[in-house]
Amino acid sequence: MKTKQRPLSHGVDLQRRRAPIYDADDIEALRRVCQESSTILDEITRHIVPGVTTQELDDRIEAMMRDFGGVAATLGYKGYPASSCISVNHVVNHGIPSPGKRLQDGDIVNIDVTLLKDGWYGDNSRMYLVGDKCSLRARKLVDTTYDAMMAGIAQVRPGAELMEIGLAIQTVAHAVGFSVVEEYCGHGVGRAFHDAPMIMHYAVPTDRMKMQPGMVFTVEPMINAGKKGVKQLSDGWTVVTRDRSLSAQFEHTVVVTENGHDILTRSPKGFTKPPYPV
Ligand code: MF3
Ligand code: CO
Ligand code: CO
Repeated sequence: MKTKQRPLSHGVDLQRRRAPIYDADDIEALRRVCQESSTILDEITRHIVPGVTTQELDDRIEAMMRDFGGVAATLGYKGYPASSCISVNHVVNHGIPSPGKRLQDGDIVNIDVTLLKDGWYGDNSRMYLVGDKCSLRARKLVDTTYDAMMAGIAQVRPGAELMEIGLAIQTVAHAVGFSVVEEYCGHGVGRAFHDAPMIMHYAVPTDRMKMQPGMVFTVEPMINAGKKGVKQLSDGWTVVTRDRSLSAQFEHTVVVTENGHDILTRSPKGFTKPPYPV
């Protein structure tokens, strides 16, 4: 979600809006959709091979969503034309699937899916390595980005301040010389696709809102191998690194529990970061 956005997004002011608190029944309903959303990322894994087009992957994702009885939250969202976002190499996020985009051995790719079912949104994304020729630097970026996301999630517990998430993420990224994209943030999710609170992936010392049990939000850091700057292409969606360095992202939907947190989009197959078991 865009960080430096106009104050009103779909008629909702995310900064002013109170973060919704969901009850135990809500969380169980949301967990089901999140688990299906995560299953889609599990199932797409074996189709990510050199030569496949990102359109073919999107078609499979659309079919899986239909089989689950849901729809893609992204399809038609502010005019977005696809059921997933597929972002390859220096594409940071919001890559549009296309029949002309063939994955090549050595590419790194993020697939981001948000399943909407029964009025609940389950949002998650993962990185995949295409073939076996990915550079050491690419693997390190993917690895670090996963570790950064998990370090952010590890901060989630009642009473913690939102800024602790971004601080933990940036500490992991900066330790190895990578940078954190600032233009896009995590977001409340549940009955709405993009809700309060906003989750920054870098340290914002003024962001002192406290986490409460029943809050649900995504943690979805974008980490660049080079500089943090990004720009949007003329298609109005695709975001790339300004210096054309590689970029990676992972995303989970997380609930604050009485004792800490629970990752609602945890992989049913136990997949975490690549290489995934075949
Ligand atoms: N799923 C993305 C997120 O993590 C949002 C994609 S919006 C789209 O918030 F329009 F680009 F698809
Ligand atoms: Co999201
Ligand atoms: Co997403």
